[in-house]
Amino acid sequence: MRLKDKVAVVTGGTRGLGAAVAEAFTAEGCHVVRAARTGDGEFHPVDVRDPESVRELMAGVADRFGGLDIVVANAGVSRPGPVRALSAGDWDDVVGTNLTGVFHCVSAALPYLEKSAAGRIITMSSALGVRPAPGAAAYAASKAGVEMLTRVLALEAAPSGVTVNCLSPGFVDVGMGRALAANEQVWPRYRATLASGRMGTAAEVTAAAVFLASAEASYVNGHVLEVNGGLRW
Ligand SMILES: NC(=O)c1ccc[n+]([C@@H]2O[C@H](COP(=O)([O-])OP(=O)(O)OC[C@H]3O[C@@H](n4cnc5c(N)ncnc54)[C@H](OP(=O)(O)O)[C@@H]3O)[C@@H](O)[C@H]2O)c1
Repeated sequence: MRLKDKVAVVTGGTRGLGAAVAEAFTAEGCHVVRAARTGDGEFHPVDVRDPESVRELMAGVADRFGGLDIVVANAGVSRPGPVRALSAGDWDDVVGTNLTGVFHCVSAALPYLEKSAAGRIITMSSALGVRPAPGAAAYAASKAGVEMLTRVLALEAAPSGVTVNCLSPGFVDVGMGRALAANEQVWPRYRATLASGRMGTAAEVTAAAVFLASAEASYVNGHVLEVNGGLRW
């Protein structure tokens, strides 16, 4: 019960890694609001590309639960393709969701997190945020931006007691990682980098997310935690 009675928002919490993080937080005693554009079961509708939609989410959660302690800015999309063939619309979708969407989430959540005894922001990067791969320009650039946004915000928010850290999963057998493994054109190149010889599991990523959200990580700030089993790039 490391997150007992905490209140968390997980964007992109309806499936994939976000759903796994939401379940792990719930098992630790946390009240979790899962937010996305669509989904089965109980979730709060949000489009992270729209600042008003995100403000409504954070205000609604703080109002319903009497505060907000943890935000996991996890919602993300990927539109692979070489730069010369990538449409401006695909670029905007990726950067607008993965980077600007994180900005909207953290800026809307900060006023509430600052009132928490131990506010926590966890952003989501990727092994590709610091490793170039052909066809990954929009995704990799958005994740590199997320890592630096995390580091800058950690400095700005530290005086108010809010920590800001980033999880950087490698290739995980849920969500878009599973789709990648099914892509016979690109997967052999990525598979060759797996030093551990296997993909990661959702549980291996959520264990790191619970740690970063918990009191145990009170002095961890501005950190990018890679959870990738070791990669040979
Ligand atoms: N799985 C991996 O191997 C892996 C590895 C490294 C990093 N990551 C990162 O982990 C995060 C989750 O990835 P995943 O694999 O779980 O992906 P996923 O299964 O495709 O889930 C993505 C989630 O984000 C939501 N979402 C997408 N666009 C949104 C928007 N505009 N507003 C609100 N919600 C939105 C989706 O719901 P809707 O479409 O209904 O909105 C869904 O809940 C991403 O940031 C990804 O880059 C994943």
